[in-house]
Amino acid sequence: MLLWQYLITFLLVTVQICKAEKCDEFTDLNLGHSIIGTSLKVRLLLYTRSHGTCGTLVSHTDLSAYPQFNLLNPTTFIIHGYRLTGSPPPWLGDLTQLLLVRKDMNVIVVDWNYGAANLNYLEAVKNTREVASNVTAFIQMLQEQGADLSSIHLIGVSLGAHISGFTGANLKGEIGRISALDPAGPEFKGRNPEDRLDSSDAQFVDVVHTDMDLLGFREPLGHIDYYANGGADQPGCPKTIFSGQSYFKCDHQRSVYLFLDSINATCTSRTYPCSSYKDFLDGKCLTCSQFGDAGCPIFGYDVIKWKDILLEQNQTKAYFKTNGKSPYCMTNYRMDVMIWNKDVQWGYLTVKLHGNGKEAQATINHKSLKFKKFTETELLAAFDKDIQSVEKVSVKFSTGNVLQPKRKLRILQIRLENLEPKENKAQGSLCRYDVLLEENKEVTFRPIPCEESNF
Ligand SMILES: *[C@@H]1O[C@H](CO)[C@@H](O)[C@H](O)[C@H]1NC(C)=O
Ligand SMILES: *[C@@H]1O[C@H](CO)[C@@H](O)[C@H](O)[C@H]1NC(C)=O
Ligand SMILES: *[C@@H]1O[C@H](CO)[C@@H](O)[C@H](O)[C@H]1NC(C)=O
Repeated sequence: MLLWQYLITFLLVTVQICKAEKCDEFTDLNLGHSIIGTSLKVRLLLYTRSHGTCGTLVSHTDLSAYPQFNLLNPTTFIIHGYRLTGSPPPWLGDLTQLLLVRKDMNVIVVDWNYGAANLNYLEAVKNTREVASNVTAFIQMLQEQGADLSSIHLIGVSLGAHISGFTGANLKGEIGRISALDPAGPEFKGRNPEDRLDSSDAQFVDVVHTDMDLLGFREPLGHIDYYANGGADQPGCPKTIFSGQSYFKCDHQRSVYLFLDSINATCTSRTYPCSSYKDFLDGKCLTCSQFGDAGCPIFGYDVIKWKDILLEQNQTKAYFKTNGKSPYCMTNYRMDVMIWNKDVQWGYLTVKLHGNGKEAQATINHKSLKFKKFTETELLAAFDKDIQSVEKVSVKFSTGNVLQPKRKLRILQIRLENLEPKENKAQGSLCRYDVLLEENKEVTFRPIPCEESNF
């Protein structure tokens, strides 16, 4: 053979190898496409443990070409929402990877970017029913091939949450689970259950709300509805429009990042069923006796462990606070303060826990607290970190009023109790008696185990 023949053979072989390893990617569009508008295409990208970072575009009707698709494994669908600029969702890779780390499963990314990318949001909304019938047909095909509907989980973001709902309804609510991440509000608010996500769409529907005042949905839609930080404004997100695009999407997208943290099991966010966020912050909902030994439901992927008891409750609204960035979970304490000042005192508290060279802080400033002589004021103290073994506690009292003379809070007893169920925590309740807090001066002390007779 001549040299050039060798070269061509070499090139052909290389092309073959590259072809075998070719990965199919999520459709990458740009603002130009959104301006012109796109018409719907539904692409299904398969990821499995053996093909974790390399997507495979699969046929809607025939799975024989993809031996890695194991129908005996559970299948999770990821369904995105509206794409203003046509770019792929930034969290897609992490969500796929983390799911595969957690469980041996098939992950199907439903790519309907053609159809979702449009300056006109209403055009994307119009496509949601058709995406749902398309996914429904695919799931019915899986079922015919032997897949069990209860092992199917749809994770829907924003508009994707309603697409999941329509798909679930098409399948008579028989699929195992829908996780809805900040379901879209615009065009869905006030609609009948059949025209939006609702709890009859799957055996179990968990929903997180992070932007209910703008792009999200205010009313509960599932068996459990979490309202992170009250469900409207998220810590760490810009509060003014001058921050550009992130002002619009930061709160909304936070739902996905919270869910990612929960799959990654970075840490655990305990949540508290309550009638309102205000009551939750006021420390009125810190016990979950209705949940027995399991304790208050946790947020996110693993809430499935609470499924049976949540189904019995029909509908639960649960609240929790988060940090402004990952790790998002906070460590919640019940704090009781009793004073012996003659007059009623009003103010805010900052509490720090120290231990193992770390420091955690809780700022209780959602409103001015009322302290009354010999009366326990019960508070929620949400700390930004978990300190397993608390050695010291610091407390600061302030009134926020610079015009009046400095106040003193004469604390008779302060008690801190980690709200985690007993087996998860290292220490029992911590107490300290007789502490004088001068306004704006931090006082640090060593707590002692509370005397059981105190409560
Ligand atoms: C789903 O969408 C794909 C591509 O857009 C199309 O080829 C397929 O026929 C659709 N299936 C159904 C059942 O609508
Ligand atoms: C998962 O958690 C680990 C730490 O436990 C962290 O380093 C990693 O960045 C997290 N991954 C994602 C995608 O959040
Ligand atoms: C849940 O709903 C069912 C049927 O509507 C009702 O019988 C039951 O009492 C409800 N349970 C709770 C805890 O509200």
